[in-house]
Amino acid sequence: MCNSLAHAEDSKNDAKNGSKMKIDLSTKIAGVKLETCVFNASGPADVTLEELEVIGKSKSSAVTMKSCTLEPRVGNPEPRYADLEYGSINSMGLPNLGYKAYIKFARVLKKKFKKPVIASISGMTLEDNVIMFKAFNNSAVDIIEFNPGSPNTIGKPIIGYDFEEMDRLLDAVSKVCKKPFGVKLPAYFDLVHFEQIAGVIKKYPVKFVTCINSIGNGLAINPYTEKPLIKPKGGLGGIGGGYTKYTTLANVRRFYELFEDKIQVIGVGGVYTGIDAFELILAGASAVQIGTAYLQKGPYIFEQVQNELGDFMANKGYKKLSDFRGQLKPL
Ligand code: DHB
Repeated sequence: MCNSLAHAEDSKNDAKNGSKMKIDLSTKIAGVKLETCVFNASGPADVTLEELEVIGKSKSSAVTMKSCTLEPRVGNPEPRYADLEYGSINSMGLPNLGYKAYIKFARVLKKKFKKPVIASISGMTLEDNVIMFKAFNNSAVDIIEFNPGSPNTIGKPIIGYDFEEMDRLLDAVSKVCKKPFGVKLPAYFDLVHFEQIAGVIKKYPVKFVTCINSIGNGLAINPYTEKPLIKPKGGLGGIGGGYTKYTTLANVRRFYELFEDKIQVIGVGGVYTGIDAFELILAGASAVQIGTAYLQKGPYIFEQVQNELGDFMANKGYKKLSDFRGQLKPL
């Protein structure tokens, strides 16, 4: 029997015998150690300090804060979020308390929960982004996720699809940022686009990409009222949750290959179970964020996904993420 098979047999026996194999779900993102690879996505229920404290108290291995802008924003008119059968639609319009609030919150959260805090910066202009990156240099945040393109800001394009603008933005923020930072990307659907955006990102000291943002501009309709489910933009909004999982997997996989593991990939989109997380890691993700499922299931989702992931790994004889991360087998 080859070594890895023997290893798998051992762990099956361990499981049968009830002796619990020690599973290590830890990871490092941008050099920052996370107790587990599962934490919250920027977006859902992470605007106020009260909301962020709920995430802090949960088993989420980091606290990711809402994407912030220079000035506070109330966001788009309500209703602006709706649950769907297998996911969600939203057009929140970046409601947030302004970046200064998140600099304060980061200090409180770090002190109280002793886990990494991730800021998400989503400026309306290049200049706004530069101001915020500079300000976060002197903050308690461990990592910055640059989110240059909300799909929901009325009158603004999804910047991740404009490669020249992405180049200009990354150039500007790279010059001022002293924290480890990564970029949240929209979903790409065309193989050439993966190569083009990867080429831009490789020019800069980007430590990770987070794939994917909600898929822009879907439409959900109530057939009884004959109206859309959300109000902004005639009902158009970003699609999240289960509908996005296969696009997430493809984006994670393609960027894992293109970056040859030199720039990390965080997977987000459609994670409800430990097996969803396992698949993203198998495709190459170094960590997994939970967005829609957190809103729908509540804070226990982090523990549930971690437990299920650990059990699934134990059954396969995997003790740590590096035993299988990126190792998708050819058919
Ligand atoms: C919003 C939505 C996003 O998908 C995003 O990346 C940032 C902000 C929003 O509508 O608030």
